Amino acid sequence: MTAQVPVIAIDGPTGSGKGTVSRGLARRLNWHLLDSGALYRLVALAARRRGVSLEDAAGLVSVAETMAVEFSAAGDEEQIMLESQDVTLALRTEDAGMDASQVGAVPEVRAALLERQRGFARAPGLIADGRDMGSVVFPESTLKVFLTAAPEERAERRYKQLREKGIDVSLATLSREIVERDQRDANRSIAPLRPAADARVLDSTGLTAEQVIETVLRWVDEAGLTAGS
Ligand code: C5P
Repeated sequence: MTAQVPVIAIDGPTGSGKGTVSRGLARRLNWHLLDSGALYRLVALAARRRGVSLEDAAGLVSVAETMAVEFSAAGDEEQIMLESQDVTLALRTEDAGMDASQVGAVPEVRAALLERQRGFARAPGLIADGRDMGSVVFPESTLKVFLTAAPEERAERRYKQLREKGIDVSLATLSREIVERDQRDANRSIAPLRPAADARVLDSTGLTAEQVIETVLRWVDEAGLTAGS
């Protein structure tokens, strides 16, 4: 059961700062981290590598159930392995994000990933980063945060992030893709991107990641989540 392990759900659209904030929180609290977007990206990548069509729901479920993935982190460097191959960079491209958004709209894929995601909840606690962490995967989370930011700022953040990783991309293309991905994520019939009823919405426009982390840590204190740890 995951109920005893405290979970902080950090949901929001692309470029809202979820990833940076979640990693920062996990480090500050010394909790585990679930990057659920990476799982959707991995299903799509593994499917492509196995020659499974992204339209083939049964094939995607089989990939989601059988793919061997490993997450590790050394300091600031994350590493993601798929079937013993380092796919850390391949996963971060916008193409991988668009593919993930396509497989994420398939209900059977979401169901297949549910238990895998819940398995990340281990003591002393979990920071769960995604789109439906507070609404579907961990509805019992003690703290649910929904991060937003103005679309232009989200596109700029993604642009900087990708350039820093050496991934070539134009800001105009990125802005278009972000809008497209947001629309698909927000309008899909299953687990659409929207705040859980009991989520605290935080608009990070104009704020640094550190300021957002400080705000969430205040909420963590208020919720009594770290008492005794
Ligand atoms: O967060 P990230 O950009 O890595 O997510 C990639 C895509 O995976 C999202 O655009 C979304 O379609 C999908 N996703 C999802 N549910 C999650 C996390 C990601 O549907 N919990």
